Amino acid sequence: MKIKILFYVFFITILISGFILSGFTSKEVIKQNNSNGIKLPDNPIEGRFVFEQKGCINCHAINGSGGKKAKDLGEKVFFGNDYNLIADMWNHSSKMLKLMEENNISKEEFNAKEFRSLRLFLYDLRYLGKNGNIKSGKKLFVKMGCTHCHSVGNEKTNKIRLDKTGIYASPVYLAQTMWNHAIKMQTVQKSSNIKVPIFKDDEFSDLSSYIRAVSVYKSKNLKYMTPGNPVIGKKLFSDKGCFFCHNEKHIGPDLTKIDLNKSVTEIAGMMWNHSLEMEPAMQKFKIAMPAFKGNEMADLISYLYFSNKQQVNGSADIGRKILSEKGCINCHVSGNPYKAAESKLIGPFNSEDEFFSDLWNHLPLMQKNLYFKNKSLPRLLPSDIKSLYLYFNRERKK
Ligand code: HEC
Ligand code: HEC
Ligand code: HEC
Ligand code: HEC
Repeated sequence: MKIKILFYVFFITILISGFILSGFTSKEVIKQNNSNGIKLPDNPIEGRFVFEQKGCINCHAINGSGGKKAKDLGEKVFFGNDYNLIADMWNHSSKMLKLMEENNISKEEFNAKEFRSLRLFLYDLRYLGKNGNIKSGKKLFVKMGCTHCHSVGNEKTNKIRLDKTGIYASPVYLAQTMWNHAIKMQTVQKSSNIKVPIFKDDEFSDLSSYIRAVSVYKSKNLKYMTPGNPVIGKKLFSDKGCFFCHNEKHIGPDLTKIDLNKSVTEIAGMMWNHSLEMEPAMQKFKIAMPAFKGNEMADLISYLYFSNKQQVNGSADIGRKILSEKGCINCHVSGNPYKAAESKLIGPFNSEDEFFSDLWNHLPLMQKNLYFKNKSLPRLLPSDIKSLYLYFNRERKK
């Protein structure tokens, strides 16, 4: 089993979209809360170790690498908010636990930190996106009019060559370089009556894959970016003037409110598309077009992604009702045979993840002692879990 797991580790390490996923952290950056109270991670992908250590990978693959007994979790689009993942795991736990038993896989317990890492990692998969498609990239290169001014590969022309861009494995690098040249490019485009390309979906990935595939540089020299550090990204959001327009002057929309449940390259595409409209506003306020270097664009976009959370509704009152509706109260009363704490004495929890890991850890006990007999485990919606959490964390009279 060890060998098998190592094999998977290898895959997950090199897996996605030209990012280097091996450990990157920035120790000098202190974890901090952003304005809407979200604790930003500074290494969202560190949870891939938890995914492996806790044996999830024995049954679930990620984008094709890993076990095939259950759903590929790379395909599941959105574990965006704190409550989705635990609700999903909870609602599938009967099947999961049964399969674990049949396959002699021990059910691992979580602590809050591990659960948080896991959750952020699975959430990050949507952001990392899929690898680009070379064929579509080739078509796009022509269709988007890049060939008017550029060439790449062995073609002999006087056009501006893009081979250098092909050294970079990450499509964000292409987006970043284009962004830095946006004004120049768009000026030439307008003056020569060429339509400025608009990006949608993962077109940056496709284009980047194509450029990389035909670039004259050998692929073993590929340079990688890291997927982005939201904590650094938050600082860039102010430093590069985004905060000024989007939060201070409200010239652009509040980016925590628009749908950014998208991959990094899709978001890069949105930024590119709005670079056209930004220009007049920038002139008016005498702001220079921000330029990006190193890993900055990935850092910035990962900040946008992680601060853009869908809200889940819930209330402590509903939570109290759910305790009886879902049968929790059968055990969580005083004098119960399981020595479970009385519900009104449970909590408060330091974090949602502490609560989630407690819920997950006592699932087998619940299934065995109560529901396996004649009832099935009650389904919990993300909003139910939020309500329970709010109830356990309600203000108490001293
Ligand atoms: C013994 C096999 C097994 C293991 C180990 C396992 N799962 Fe599952 N998991 C399943 C099965 C079976 C389902 C339900 C059927 C399906 O959706 O494929 C499921 C469903 C899920 C779902 C819901 C998927 C959906 O479509 O909504 C999530 C999320 C999930 N598992 C996460 C995890 C995590 C995280 C771990 C590691 C802690 C884990 N699983 C470990 C077998 C397993
Ligand atoms: C109308 C001409 C024109 C079109 C069309 C055009 N570009 Fe450019 N591109 C430029 C100019 C001009 C520069 C700036 C070169 C410089 O600064 O030296 C540039 C620079 C770039 C760079 C940076 C090159 C480097 O090595 O620093 C990239 C990458 C790039 N373009 C990609 C694209 C892609 C992809 C397309 C198609 C979606 C495209 N361009 C369409 C004119 C164009
Ligand atoms: C000069 C003001 C200004 C600055 C500076 C600015 N933006 Fe914007 N931004 C806007 C405006 C205006 C829009 C809405 C334009 C539109 O609807 O396309 C917008 C839209 C966006 C969108 C959403 C586009 C869409 O498709 O909905 C994103 C993402 C974005 N900006 C990111 C950024 C980031 C990141 C920065 C910092 C690098 C930044 N913006 C800097 C003015 C600005
Ligand atoms: C079969 C009995 C049983 C049922 C049903 C049950 N629990 Fe528990 N619960 C326990 C026991 C026993 C513990 C003590 C921890 C342990 O041994 O796993 C516990 C612990 C907990 C804890 C951690 C308490 C702490 O002090 O940290 C929470 C939170 C919790 N349960 C919530 C729930 C919720 C919510 C439900 C209903 C969806 C529920 N439980 C249903 C038996 C049960």
